[in-house]
Amino acid sequence: MGRLSVLTAAAVLVVTGLLGVPLAQATPSDGVLAARQTADKYCDSATGLCYLELSTRSTNPTYRVAIPGAASAPFDTLLQIVAPASLGWAGFAWGGGMTLNPLTVAWPDGKGGVTVSSRWATGRALPTVYSGATLKTLSATTNATHWAVEVLCAGCSRWGSGASLSSTGVHTFAWAMSKTPVPQPANPSSSFSIHNNVGMVSGDMADAQVAQSVFQAHAAGGR
Ligand code: HEM
Repeated sequence: MGRLSVLTAAAVLVVTGLLGVPLAQATPSDGVLAARQTADKYCDSATGLCYLELSTRSTNPTYRVAIPGAASAPFDTLLQIVAPASLGWAGFAWGGGMTLNPLTVAWPDGKGGVTVSSRWATGRALPTVYSGATLKTLSATTNATHWAVEVLCAGCSRWGSGASLSSTGVHTFAWAMSKTPVPQPANPSSSFSIHNNVGMVSGDMADAQVAQSVFQAHAAGGR
């Protein structure tokens, strides 16, 4: 992703107040796994915070991850999800697949905000609520084109019997999205229907590292 596109996204952010917009992508052919992806560093001009940005194409959500320095898991994580307004829900899998790792799922709450839900799947069926991770919403916005949320997660960097998110090297995440609205949008425990698209995305965790003090100040204050 070129610097110009990042700057363009930052300019839109200032104008719209949205958490940035997904960066335009070349369109790959349709498929169950979206093959094309970019992983790059994205800096939010409003907060100065930088994230590892994972995106595929403009009709899919964009995900941004930040972590507190080069810590060893468990550490808190920050996740931004920016989704086209047409999507009913968007999910992020911290361990790179659907099952046996923390899933962070979000959807418009029907009242101008965004509901976030911590889930876990033991099979490829509706994931159940997962109490091993705690989510705190730092900001949420919706407008005509996108909905967006930033969430702090305690419990998304370590799970199961020792699996974890490394703060260095390349890590593979996975994502999923659905065009179907969630039936009980204000309820984090709501059911929801299966995805229309899923994918895996890898990124250099060095791009997700934020100075501990900056991370903590952002996590404490929200915006
Ligand atoms: C009602 C909810 C869900 C159902 C019924 C469901 C079902 C399935 C099924 C049947 C597959 C295998 C076939 C396919 O690729 O379509 C699959 C794959 C996948 N799902 Fe889900 N899913 C659900 C929710 C989620 C959520 C919330 C996430 C992520 C946050 C997710 C992430 C994935 C991923 C990444 C794959 C492909 C890789 C893999 O199989 O691990 N799914 N899902």
